[in-house]
Amino acid sequence: MSPHSELESAVADVIFLGNERKVPLSGLASLTRATPDQAKRALDELKKLGYPLRLSRAGIVERLSFRPIGAQQLTADLTTERIGRRIEWRLHVSSTQDELKRLEDEAEDGAVLLAETQRTGRGRLSRSWFSPTGGIWMSVLLRPSWPRSHQILTLAFAAAVTRAVYSVTKISSLIKWPNDLTIRSRKVAGMLAEATYEGNKLRRLIVGIGVNANINTMRFPGTIRRTSTSLSRELGRDIDRNLLTRRIIEEMDHSYRRFESGHTAELLEEARRLCSTLGRKVRVTTTEGRFICEALDLGDDGQLMARLNSGAVIPLYAADVAHLR
Ligand code: BTN
Repeated sequence: MSPHSELESAVADVIFLGNERKVPLSGLASLTRATPDQAKRALDELKKLGYPLRLSRAGIVERLSFRPIGAQQLTADLTTERIGRRIEWRLHVSSTQDELKRLEDEAEDGAVLLAETQRTGRGRLSRSWFSPTGGIWMSVLLRPSWPRSHQILTLAFAAAVTRAVYSVTKISSLIKWPNDLTIRSRKVAGMLAEATYEGNKLRRLIVGIGVNANINTMRFPGTIRRTSTSLSRELGRDIDRNLLTRRIIEEMDHSYRRFESGHTAELLEEARRLCSTLGRKVRVTTTEGRFICEALDLGDDGQLMARLNSGAVIPLYAADVAHLR
């Protein structure tokens, strides 16, 4: 974690988790071992992430109304078998992926880490992931025992999130291969799987899930504003983030148990039904370059089977696709 991130986290903790609704900037600075200028810069960063706070001319920092996800209630409500038996909640982190990795040695299969905001949230292909307040940013640590490709598992989790979103909002989302969720062709959620191997054996998988839940999409950086959406934008009102988080964990737990008991064909079939990429002409970007092809099907490991102009059919494991028609 960068020192900026540490200071922002410490400042956010004092303001949003402390007993006092108002704190002098000087007091905030000394509590977080920063200069008043550094504390002010941290406040500015937190504001950009949507934290409701005000700094008066007299140098008083005031917290306005803020409703974090209720992690204790979530733990109490969940009756899942594997995912979510342990839930960790943080206010502001660099990335939930990294925060969960730190707990890795003591964290059991299914441990979940949620944060209200991320400073350096990341997406696939080393892209950054904008993570302001109002989203659902979480990572799940898994130690699967079923020896099949974890790409199936992330596809199955994408399907699980579409089920959860539907159950809370009645909005149908689709999967854009490999595991983006879209509504009206705009991205509403994404997944990131980071695996660690010991030799050939998967030691653990950390799956990150980011859902644009209650986010004013005008907040998004310009580049993604045109291509993304949020559930609140689609619905015209905020959703209950506690409920959606619970439903996501329940649906993921269901898919994980199906995977672990070997029902991968069934999971793949569901992913095929939801996958909007199949049957389309797509532009593929891989580490080796870009090309146009036709997306035919999902292979047995969740790979995209694509037909090149030459007629050859190739499997794509790690790539980004843009739908052309
Ligand atoms: C993508 O679509 O490229 C994947 C986005 C994954 C974002 C989530 S948010 C929670 C977790 N922590 C991160 O830093 N990234 C993932």
